[in-house]
Amino acid sequence: MQPSLGPEQNSLTSPSIKNEGSPTLAGLQWLSMREVFTFNSQAGAQMLSDYYARFAEAFPAEDERPARARLEQRLQDPSSPLDIVCALKGNEILGGRQFKIFERQGDTTFAAGEFLFVIPECRRLRLGNLIVEQSERIMTSRGASFAIGEFHDPKLCSERDRALDELAGMTPEGRLQFWEKRHYRQFDAPYVCAPVFGSTEWITNLTLAFRQLTPGEPITSVPVSEYLGVVTRYWDSFSSGYRESPEFTQFMSHFKDVRDITIMPLTESRTFSQSRG
Ligand SMILES: CC(C)(COP(=O)(O)OP(=O)(O)OC[C@H]1O[C@@H](n2cnc3c(N)ncnc32)[C@H](O)[C@@H]1OP(=O)(O)O)[C@@H](O)C(=O)NCCC(=O)NCCS
Repeated sequence: MQPSLGPEQNSLTSPSIKNEGSPTLAGLQWLSMREVFTFNSQAGAQMLSDYYARFAEAFPAEDERPARARLEQRLQDPSSPLDIVCALKGNEILGGRQFKIFERQGDTTFAAGEFLFVIPECRRLRLGNLIVEQSERIMTSRGASFAIGEFHDPKLCSERDRALDELAGMTPEGRLQFWEKRHYRQFDAPYVCAPVFGSTEWITNLTLAFRQLTPGEPITSVPVSEYLGVVTRYWDSFSSGYRESPEFTQFMSHFKDVRDITIMPLTESRTFSQSRG
């Protein structure tokens, strides 16, 4: 028997995503890859291998995705914040999304969503939408009050970034529209990403998005200390030693006289100027 996310997190019992609509999606099931590893590490390794084959098709640039061995190690490490939600039909992976939950006692719990994908055969059936909803349901159930996500800023993208995005099916502008419809906004602040996957290069073509997960009035700004705390907690999940680099000093210098960071629409241009790296 395969472990499931439990009734409260299972799309088949959830009113908001009960009607999958397309017959292709009938019988859809949801799994947490971390739970599969906890249940049976061999089954976890097999499922991760199946997932990775489809994930790598959706994200073909090797330097822009984590290696399978790295995911396997993290999914079995209780101190790692990583999990992967997968949509399955029978044993076939139809799509998924990686996410991380950052908890600290006495501090805000937040989540980060990464690498959403749907296999080409199942696109345009609203499965991408269902996976986002399912991942956000899990984030909320694990205590996250908001989620962050990194997206290409069309103004900062190179021709190669644009070509890769288009190859995967959507322009950088189309992606921002996709996420805006899913209630993502962005921090109106400079953002760069610390070196990832063993590289030494900072990533300078991104904006940092914000998704409020708690009901109530929309949050319109956060203290700069909270923004920087979130950013560095996120970077700590994949990068080390970055605090010693000149790029970090330069990034921090932007915030010397800033008190609050406004949260603004995702598809509008941020109000500061940031040059390409
Ligand atoms: C992006 C992706 C996950 C969308 O999955 P999907 O199941 O086809 O999306 P859905 O059917 O749920 O559609 C959701 C919305 O996105 C829109 N959309 C989906 N694919 C699109 C495309 N290629 N161009 C423009 N809009 C698109 C749909 O029209 C729909 O809009 P609506 O909410 O206004 O009705 C899928 O195309 C994919 O895996 N792409 C490759 C990986 C990738 O680029 N991931 C990063 C995503 S930012």
